[in-house]
Amino acid sequence: MPDTDVVILRALLESNASFVSGSALADKLGISRVGIWARLEKLRLEGFDFEAVRHRGYRMIAEPSAVNEDLLRAYLQLDGAKINIHFHSEIDSTSSEVERLLSHGAETPLVVVARRQTNGRGRLGRQWHSADEGNLYFSFGFRPQLAPAQMQTITLWMGVQICRYVNERLAIPAQVKWPNDIVSGSRKICGILAEARIDADHTRDLIFGIGVNVNGDCSKWPAETAAVAASLASLGGKPLKINLVAAELVEVVGRAYDGYVSDRYSQEFFELWSRFDALRGKEIRGTRGREEIVGTANGIDENGNLLLVAKGGETRRVQSGEISLGTRAVQ
Ligand code: BTN
Repeated sequence: MPDTDVVILRALLESNASFVSGSALADKLGISRVGIWARLEKLRLEGFDFEAVRHRGYRMIAEPSAVNEDLLRAYLQLDGAKINIHFHSEIDSTSSEVERLLSHGAETPLVVVARRQTNGRGRLGRQWHSADEGNLYFSFGFRPQLAPAQMQTITLWMGVQICRYVNERLAIPAQVKWPNDIVSGSRKICGILAEARIDADHTRDLIFGIGVNVNGDCSKWPAETAAVAASLASLGGKPLKINLVAAELVEVVGRAYDGYVSDRYSQEFFELWSRFDALRGKEIRGTRGREEIVGTANGIDENGNLLLVAKGGETRRVQSGEISLGTRAVQ
């Protein structure tokens, strides 16, 4: 009875931690009060906790520490989000699953959310550590009706919107490291993998995958990842409600996408980029084909290329791929 649970959870969230009477819940759902009690007992097994007081009812006092499908749906319904959710406890890669769904004609917008990935993919063929249930792994599927040339800045735009959310809503200082990492100081908190499939002059679809280190203990990860990663919890000093963060990020990405495809973004984009740009003023070593380009980062151009000012004052553009900061590779 997943929908019943979503209705119960939504009513408890709406009450904002005050009590909701068992009979009001029972009437809403057309089931008995004992039926409500039984559903709450089952939810307790999934990591929820409820306080029950005679003549007052129930209130939620703890949420599961992993992503929970019903709670995520309840949070999203509170916000009125309209997106098709596909939830998996474990999957190879949420981005690979979006690719399969889109190839089978699934309705968009959609988002695939998983508690764990067995083959999480990062940029440039890297692996994305995905064994930790305290983190977020999700991928969106869109069918933008845009020419490929109009897609050049979409992932950068999404990146600054996520960065703004982390700063403003979670109060954790974060910046965007071109092209697509969200970092706090020298530590990466979120990685973005955007894959557009192009047919000649038409964008067939966009798969937009995000991995966010929310509550996971990065120090226990493989050494090379542990050295460069941080969780939002470690930076903010306390664990976050992972389902609330997941729902809010689904909203952020959905709104950012709508803004982009309706062309309401360019002025805001450059303002946000200069506000959150982690590379501005830093010495960067980039490549363009076989050519090596060295210079001081000075923002991006209208196509999202990184601008490097060389020693002689000349501005050079770096498209994508690997760049190095000083002598260290940017992960
Ligand atoms: C990077 O920084 O290299 C990008 C990492 C993107 C990881 C996310 S996790 C959810 C989605 N599924 C994947 O397999 N990859 C992306």
